[in-house]
Amino acid sequence: MSIHQLDPPSRLLCGPGPSDVEPAVLAAMRRPMLGHLDPAFHAILDEVVALLRAVWRMPDGDVLALPSTGTSAMEAGLANLLEPGDTAIVAEAGFFGRRLGDIAERHGATVVRVTAPWGETVPNAALLDALDRHPEARLVAVVHAETSTGALHPLRELGTALFGYDVLLLADCVTSLGGIPLEAGPWGVDYAYSCTQKCLAAPPGMAPVAISPRAWRRIRTRRTPVPFALDLELLRRYWVDRPAVYHHTTPILSVYALHEALRLVLDEGLEARWSRHAAAGAHLQAALRARGLELLADPSRQMAPLTAVRVPDGVDGKAVQARLLEEHGIEVGGGLGPAAPPMWRIGLMGRNATTATATHVLTALDDVLAPAAAAA
Ligand SMILES: Cc1ncc(COP(=O)(O)O)c(C=O)c1O
Repeated sequence: MSIHQLDPPSRLLCGPGPSDVEPAVLAAMRRPMLGHLDPAFHAILDEVVALLRAVWRMPDGDVLALPSTGTSAMEAGLANLLEPGDTAIVAEAGFFGRRLGDIAERHGATVVRVTAPWGETVPNAALLDALDRHPEARLVAVVHAETSTGALHPLRELGTALFGYDVLLLADCVTSLGGIPLEAGPWGVDYAYSCTQKCLAAPPGMAPVAISPRAWRRIRTRRTPVPFALDLELLRRYWVDRPAVYHHTTPILSVYALHEALRLVLDEGLEARWSRHAAAGAHLQAALRARGLELLADPSRQMAPLTAVRVPDGVDGKAVQARLLEEHGIEVGGGLGPAAPPMWRIGLMGRNATTATATHVLTALDDVLAPAAAAA
């Protein structure tokens, strides 16, 4: 029997992620396979840790990468930092803020949800207020860059405001790492997690995390064990301790991809990369507004890598997405979850964070929307 080889269509991935993979990252995945217990591979892990430290801006504590996507890194943070009965204050202003609270509840925490409408961010003052009402809280959790709305939480200010409180700060940095100014260590983030498929321009499958010394102190005084696969201390013994202690068979080629992606980030320069994302996002957002389209995020909170556009009345948003994909080979996202208003989510992440790509997407959108605009 002859079964044909895979031949997926070629796309421009301008949705909420994954984004297009850098060719050099794909090339790295073709390098010779090693075993996960080979000392040569452990030397590569050491390099990835050094690169991650620089990209997270996490001089203390530990950095490593889970063999998973962002969701498992989210769960790992909550599972390690919370114990059944602990109180967690969770900022919820979109799909992923809600998921944070849901996962914390599954791990037995009492969750205080502080909410804001989609497109806004939960005011830091409201989180501090919740902390005053719940001094027993052990964790404050926020989504830095809420991919379901395009809104950016003022994380640095939150870290500053929490200084002096005996509470850990957990931040979802899935869409911010490598694309938006972020300094996990100096900002006082105790556990930050991300993924490879957004601004790092690698395939999905690895989840970089950063863990502060204070988070380790909390983890080491736990009374209850954490799920084995998500146990950060066991992961640390493999990623950081030498000789490495086996925990799981690391996806070797994905580690090569992460290494190359991080190398490219630092080669470009973190600040330069943040600026590139900012310029591309600003270009897209100005052009969309100039076309009379409304953006979901509060303008003062709008992030660069992801722009959520409200679908105008009378336009079939899903049909527009389908035509962009079929006729132009461009993927953009729609609303996420039942609470989402009708929207398109346009991502300019990683290698796609250029004004040229923004213009390309706008031209395609103009083409698809032309009949609707003419009828209006
Ligand atoms: C802000 C945010 N958090 C968490 C996740 C979950 O990551 P993953 O889909 O890689 O599991 C995503 C995915 O888009 C996200 O955008």
